[in-house]
Amino acid sequence: MQHGHSKPMTGKTVVVTGATGGIGRATAHGLAMMGAHVIVIGRDPKRTDETAKEIRAAGSGKVDAFFADLSSQTQLRSLADELLTAFPRIDVLINNAGGYWNTRHTTADGLEHTFALNHLAPFLLTNLLLKRLQLSGPARVVTVSSNAQAMGRINFNDLQGEHAYSGARAYNQSKLANLLFTYELDRRLHGTDVTANALHPGMVSTGFGAEDPGRAQRLLVPILRPFMLTTAQGAATSIHIASAPDLAQVSGRFFAKRTPRRSSAASYDAATAAKLWNVSAEMTGLTPTG
Ligand SMILES: NC(=O)c1ccc[n+]([C@@H]2O[C@H](COP(=O)([O-])OP(=O)(O)OC[C@H]3O[C@@H](n4cnc5c(N)ncnc54)[C@H](OP(=O)(O)O)[C@@H]3O)[C@@H](O)[C@H]2O)c1
Repeated sequence: MQHGHSKPMTGKTVVVTGATGGIGRATAHGLAMMGAHVIVIGRDPKRTDETAKEIRAAGSGKVDAFFADLSSQTQLRSLADELLTAFPRIDVLINNAGGYWNTRHTTADGLEHTFALNHLAPFLLTNLLLKRLQLSGPARVVTVSSNAQAMGRINFNDLQGEHAYSGARAYNQSKLANLLFTYELDRRLHGTDVTANALHPGMVSTGFGAEDPGRAQRLLVPILRPFMLTTAQGAATSIHIASAPDLAQVSGRFFAKRTPRRSSAASYDAATAAKLWNVSAEMTGLTPTG
């Protein structure tokens, strides 16, 4: 038997979304190895249970599995209720689930899928868990963005690509939204013991975008795959932001390769961030907290 107390994340409860595959799974695994009590969130009960079982068998901290299709606000709200009931403290929330869809899909709520899953889901889940994170402080919110943020533009006139949809445009917008959300959250958390940071994981060999890939993706990914990072390498920055003791006070930053980086000029526009926050609160029916 190992002595759990010697591990750096012992006693920490960490929620990881999109933990059934790719970067999220490796993130959950890595943090469990560091002694964290990991809560893996997946949309498919079988895959999620199997992931939890495998991480548990690798032997370290406690692992629990919870299910929700995060593109559904009803399921997301139930999940948040279940988490708040089950866990008196949540030390780290890792908003990792996300994807790319080449053609326009809508969710159960009638929202464009990329915007709903990549942006509104982390926005809503974080807000629903925020008080518990604050009570658990020092706590951390980690959101997986992408270098695609640099090409993003928030089109308030057509946020959901109803007039013109492109998978790349929707994805880039959602990853810029991850940063605007993170920076606005950081401003709102000022003076509290909760940090908010975002990251680019690198180009990682995962199942990313496989549900509805574009032509370029179908052609390029098999060629690029040998040069991509492994999922363990791709999880390194998420794990670093979630756990590094020297980042306890660091907030409102964008990381790549475990190092703070400047993000696009657009991501630092506080007026856009505030507007996106308000629009997102309206779209998710979040009660304004001021
Ligand atoms: N791979 C890269 O090179 C790369 C680069 C930059 C940024 N990223 C970002 O990294 C994050 C993780 O991506 P990945 O590459 O690991 O992709 P992935 O292999 O496709 O994994 C995505 C995870 O999200 C889950 N998920 C998808 N839709 C969901 C939904 N509606 N509700 C709940 N969970 C859902 C998936 O669950 P299932 O098992 O059920 O499918 C899976 O666990 C994403 O935010 C992505 O934008 C990736």
